[in-house]
Amino acid sequence: MERKEFLKSIGAGAAFAVMFPCLGGCSKDSDNGTIVTEPTGVDFTIDLNSEEASKLANPGGFVLKNLVVVAKNAAGIFVAASQICSHEGYDQVRFQADQDLFYCDVHGSKFSQNGTPTNQVTQNNLKIYSIEQTGDILRVFE
Ligand code: FES
Repeated sequence: MERKEFLKSIGAGAAFAVMFPCLGGCSKDSDNGTIVTEPTGVDFTIDLNSEEASKLANPGGFVLKNLVVVAKNAAGIFVAASQICSHEGYDQVRFQADQDLFYCDVHGSKFSQNGTPTNQVTQNNLKIYSIEQTGDILRVFE
């Protein structure tokens, strides 16, 4: 099937979406976040008794700090990944409690807790950070 026939067969609206997939969704500083450069030298702590850590009390909860998503997975283990998506660099990675994985809602990337992509949106691994817990203090670092 020729391109023109294909576009005609799927209709004008769909053809527009195929030809201009990023209008309104891929621009910098859009509602879908901002393209950000991956930080280097990440090394910070979170006090589990602090207000900022309140969302880490239960499995599935997560907090965003220093462009890192720190989450408590379904097993109650703390995990951390970059907030910067390995697909196109938007700062929209979050933790999805019901699937126990990291995801980015800009184009739908999903990543296992070791950073491996779990769908076909990107082949690039998500950066994962180490976590060390000493008492009530979580250290997140590279
Ligand atoms: S930037 Fe495309 S899925 Fe995250």
